[in-house]
Amino acid sequence: MNDPLKDNGSVTVVKSRSKLNYLILVLAVLIGAGSIYYSNLIANQLKEREREQIELFAKTLETIANDNSEYNDNVMLLFEEIVVANETIPVIVTHKNGEPKIHKNLKIPQGLNGQETTEYLKQKVEEMREEYAPIVIANKNDDGEVFNYEYIFYQNSFLLTQLQYYPYVQLSVIAVFFLLSYLAFSYSRAAEQNRVWVGLAKETAHQLGTPLSSLMAWLEYLKSDPELENREITRELGKDIKKLELITNRFSSIGSVPVLQPENIFQVIQSSVSYLQTRISSKVKINLHFEGDEVVAEINKPLFDWVIENLCKNAVDAMSGIGVIDIYVHRSPEGKVIVDVADTGKGIPKNLLTQIFQPGFTTKKRGWGLGLTLVKRIVEHYHKGKIFIKSSELNTGTTFRIILNGSAPVSTSKTG
Ligand SMILES: Nc1ncnc2c1ncn2[C@@H]1O[C@H](COP(=O)(O)OP(=O)(O)O)[C@@H](O)[C@H]1O
Ligand SMILES: [Mg+2]
Repeated sequence: MNDPLKDNGSVTVVKSRSKLNYLILVLAVLIGAGSIYYSNLIANQLKEREREQIELFAKTLETIANDNSEYNDNVMLLFEEIVVANETIPVIVTHKNGEPKIHKNLKIPQGLNGQETTEYLKQKVEEMREEYAPIVIANKNDDGEVFNYEYIFYQNSFLLTQLQYYPYVQLSVIAVFFLLSYLAFSYSRAAEQNRVWVGLAKETAHQLGTPLSSLMAWLEYLKSDPELENREITRELGKDIKKLELITNRFSSIGSVPVLQPENIFQVIQSSVSYLQTRISSKVKINLHFEGDEVVAEINKPLFDWVIENLCKNAVDAMSGIGVIDIYVHRSPEGKVIVDVADTGKGIPKNLLTQIFQPGFTTKKRGWGLGLTLVKRIVEHYHKGKIFIKSSELNTGTTFRIILNGSAPVSTSKTG
């Protein structure tokens, strides 16, 4: 029962591709999380060091403040080495009442007068208070009693601030880059697929064209003979030529910009169903349900026929040749034309729902997995409509929904 033409790997290809996508996503998240974690680690170490530096700074100020000797080399050295040497961490020392006393490593905006500078510093103090609790310097008298306080406010150095935001900036830039390249890539892939579809369809229509017109000529020849004109062979040949014409018509429509015309959807479906009904198992009944006024949509008839045919053939396969297909046509309140194709077949497992429209996906021994790809392409690409699975339940049935852009009724009797 093995079909030598059929590469039995088509399902696995689709599956492994989605697995690969999943793997890439996991890897990207891991790299992102890792780089944020690592730079946080460094930032925390730097933060710890800055904290120690400020404490040293505070102790030095305290020591200087409490040193009552006239002149002390050691104290001056401390001052030079620690207080002056801090070139990075913004610091404001305030009096007990919060009035700024000295500041360091702050960028004061230019052109502020004394009063404005004080206001600016006070505002900065509030900002710093949010970040870190101030360090208290105690001023003591000779007996070691505390008689005054000062506060040191500080915040992260510019370097530390940068380091904290850096990984997020970096990752966003990388993410934007990947998003853009992904879009460009899928755009060019879609364009390539388009070229393949169009090219192959045009070529097929073209190749069928020559023998078909010759067959038509032969048919005319047979018909011109009074003896052969009404024979079964002539009638059957005529039918087959009609079918070949239909196929050629479909391929040439897919290969060009198809002409859309307002059509009565119900009539179109009815004619393709009555054609299908004779060709499928007699144990499958196709019922048409039609609601409301005349439902008109702009469609390309040969292509839309193809959609209905593909959906019905899949339904027949899913029901193993026994069951009912119900086709519902109605107009939504927003003026869209809705076509539901419901079967009583085996249903589609949840995990396959996203895959059935992908080219090459099939669960059938002799399937090509192109039917639904074609259907989706016809509905969405050529008709600017939508197709999706409205519902599917295992061993109960599946309903496909097509949404087309409706147009005003073309009823000749009403418009006159
Ligand atoms: N009405 C349906 N009920 C259950 N499964 C369906 C139905 N229509 C399509 N499928 C599933 O989607 C797959 C892809 O369908 P299709 O693209 O037409 O390719 P093919 O018919 O060659 O398998 C089918 O193999 C089947 O598993
Ligand atoms: Mg199919």
